[in-house]
Amino acid sequence: MSEFQQVGSGNRRSTGRRRRSIAQQWLNELLVTQLDLRGTGLNVVDLGGGTGGIAAALAEAGHTVLVIDPSPDALAATQRRAAEQELSDRVTAVQGDTGTLAEVVPAGSADVITFHLVLERQDGAADALAAMATALKPGGLLSIVINQRLHRVWHQAEAGHFDAAREILQDTGLLDRAGLLDLLAAGGWEVLAEHGVGVITDHVPEASAEGYSDELLELEAAAAGNPAYLESATRLHVLATHVGASDD
Ligand SMILES: C[S@@+](CC[C@H](N)C(=O)[O-])C[C@H]1O[C@@H](n2cnc3c(N)ncnc32)[C@H](O)[C@@H]1O
Repeated sequence: MSEFQQVGSGNRRSTGRRRRSIAQQWLNELLVTQLDLRGTGLNVVDLGGGTGGIAAALAEAGHTVLVIDPSPDALAATQRRAAEQELSDRVTAVQGDTGTLAEVVPAGSADVITFHLVLERQDGAADALAAMATALKPGGLLSIVINQRLHRVWHQAEAGHFDAAREILQDTGLLDRAGLLDLLAAGGWEVLAEHGVGVITDHVPEASAEGYSDELLELEAAAAGNPAYLESATRLHVLATHVGASDD
């Protein structure tokens, strides 16, 4: 087990300036702690960074973040957020996507790439991962988060959409842990750590959580690395490093 897997509640620090879901807060804290193990002032690329929540958390922790996203609205929101939090000197937002990564990020220049909730399907994923391997420095870190297929099945079933739930159950092109790990192995990535996101929090009704957010955050942190939860977690976070394609 790597040091990146073992980060626990003892290493957690609250980023708590703005309200965010407890699961997202846990993920941000996990990532900040994992990057702390690698160093300070890292050069992070947040690919598909959306409205910049993760970028702000990492910039607040002292890293420099380039947010790349195809959506002008998302980029504008990222810039607004960075300005509000007085982080504009450490957060830059540019338009782009997985296909244009090489035009925006020179090969071998990024310490870390975060790629959260962008990949949904197996299709095109291998090319996206290869582009990220090129952009990273040797030994650089990839932080990837996916929504898991099995959770989507529950989500549809809970809403009474049983046909949709069955379609998703049978749609093996949608990513889940096994599919993601296969893709990473085939692309020459070594997995350093795996954590579930929303392992506990996503099953706790708002009413039960009210007034207990610190306790729930501690519980989420304690459960997130438990291997038994990884397959069924709403979202899966994997930290990986590129060690060379298997056919190199
Ligand atoms: C669900 S949001 C996730 C935002 C953020 N990463 C997070 O975890 O909160 C997905 C983001 O991916 C962006 N996106 C969609 N296709 C993309 C692609 N091919 N390359 C990079 N980003 C993409 C969307 O514009 C959107 O902002």
